[in-house]
Amino acid sequence: MAVTRKRSKRFEVLAARPVNQDGFVAEWPEEGLIALHSPNDPRPSLKVAGGRVVELDGKPREEFDMIDQFIADYAIDLSVAEKAMTMDSQEIARMWVDPCVPREKVVEIFRGLTPAKILEVVDHLNVVEMMMAMYKMRTRKTPGNQCHVTNVRDNPVLLAADAAEAALRGFIEEETTVGVTRYAPFNALALLVGSQTGRGGVLTQAALEEATELLLGMRGFTAYAETVSVYGTERVFVDGDDTPWSKAFLASAYASRGIKMRFTSGTGSEVQMGYAEGKSMLYLEIRCIMVTRGAGVQGLQNGSISCIGVPGAVPSGIRAVLAENLITVTLDLEVASGNDQTFSHSDIRRTARMLMQMLPGTDLIFSGYSAVPNYDNMFAGSNFDIEDMDDYVILQRDLMVDGGVRPVSESEVIAVRNKAARALQAVFAELGLPAITDEEVEAATYAHGSEDMPERRVTDDLKAAQDLLKRGVTGLDIVKALGKRGFEDVARNVLGMLKLRISGDYLQTSAWVDGEFNVWSAINDPNDYRGPGTGYRLSPERWQVLKNIPQAKRPEEIGE
Ligand code: 5AD
Ligand code: CA
Repeated sequence: MAVTRKRSKRFEVLAARPVNQDGFVAEWPEEGLIALHSPNDPRPSLKVAGGRVVELDGKPREEFDMIDQFIADYAIDLSVAEKAMTMDSQEIARMWVDPCVPREKVVEIFRGLTPAKILEVVDHLNVVEMMMAMYKMRTRKTPGNQCHVTNVRDNPVLLAADAAEAALRGFIEEETTVGVTRYAPFNALALLVGSQTGRGGVLTQAALEEATELLLGMRGFTAYAETVSVYGTERVFVDGDDTPWSKAFLASAYASRGIKMRFTSGTGSEVQMGYAEGKSMLYLEIRCIMVTRGAGVQGLQNGSISCIGVPGAVPSGIRAVLAENLITVTLDLEVASGNDQTFSHSDIRRTARMLMQMLPGTDLIFSGYSAVPNYDNMFAGSNFDIEDMDDYVILQRDLMVDGGVRPVSESEVIAVRNKAARALQAVFAELGLPAITDEEVEAATYAHGSEDMPERRVTDDLKAAQDLLKRGVTGLDIVKALGKRGFEDVARNVLGMLKLRISGDYLQTSAWVDGEFNVWSAINDPNDYRGPGTGYRLSPERWQVLKNIPQAKRPEEIGE
């Protein structure tokens, strides 16, 4: 029998709201579509005999998969494990939040916990408590931010200008990738020259196929890598012809050449690949965090990352994403905390999701704030992009919170974009690459995105980009080219980036480099939060910078 249902006008209006374009699913544990509390998640247990783990979370050693084995052998500190595992989970959860319990004490307990036990502990916290714990537990005291710099045409002049602007705005790390793979050497070069024009010491990365990425790093074109992925089930590793050991080996390849490195993981990847084994997303992610810890890598990019639509669709999923960031820092790792992919049509939802990391601050609040318009973001769009920048800067001012960027004036942005475009023009000329015209420099100076740029001869660029690698050009050639053409300050900054590889200080946990090439990390800027008045506080100078937005009318202007 056909029923014609009369629609409520209220519900019609609500149905048309952006949030109702988002995808939501009810919990479905068999497919791993559940944030926490899958009935298939193991119960915590640990048995040690003869100095090694013989049972982990209810599973005897004979039944270990390779992730269990890696965690049991490398990620659990047996000197504290037996005591830590007998502690009441709620008691540990309270120590996490209690400002009177020092960070180091909590770190020590977590060194001895199994994945299922960590899951049980974190489930005692609500998001406010997780943010409080994040404030205390992140390894470095001062928060920071990372951005994406890409464009749909891989236009190098625009990349350099955008990289310079992003550096001026305060991002401490900049990440690029390519539309067309063969452009990679140009993208890395443009990002390096642009960032070092904006502010010396900004760390840059080019997310590429593994061999090319490592090669560009060794040549001195990039300073860090973070897209070495780890997963929470064996089947996903096997699908990628990888193991925790192969990932650890790759990490060592970077670090041994003085290139900063972190792994990537995040809730939802195992569901997306169809191999969640019916386990909850957060349980699987805790395994990834422990694999990272076991591999000896200094940090992790997590917070679901490219899979954010999956936890975003289930109950408590966005809470689970904050939980994974919190567990990462509690295992004493640097965290680059996501917010780097579009996940909602709703401005309210994407802001709420972002505040979970912005309010407490993390090492890198966004592991990719899009410093370019959405249409130019080659990482499939970020949670926030350059068009949201004034909103973000004003949120810092409203809440008196340091989100890692600062207000800038139109004239300083124009000036730095122009200088970066000219510096790259000089490097291209000096290295015999296809010329960058004055018209391109002018366009990049004033551009919003790649639609504002004149076309380049793509085939010439691609050939020259490959040639650059064949000719064995390195970071030093870039330094020389800049110096020869009158860009001594930029040359000195690029040289500073190369020197970092020799000193190696920036391989310490949570390291970033300031404009005077001082390295700041968990070693010399440790988080010492112990309640109000301690930990990271805005200095009067920093607050002066953050509150001073160009939009604010001054008293003398109001009467006019
Ligand atoms: N788990 C593991 N790796 C991820 N990446 C993105 N999201 C995840 C995740 N949840 C990786 C991609 C790519 C880079 C952008 O990060 O595989 O290498
Ligand atoms: Ca990133």
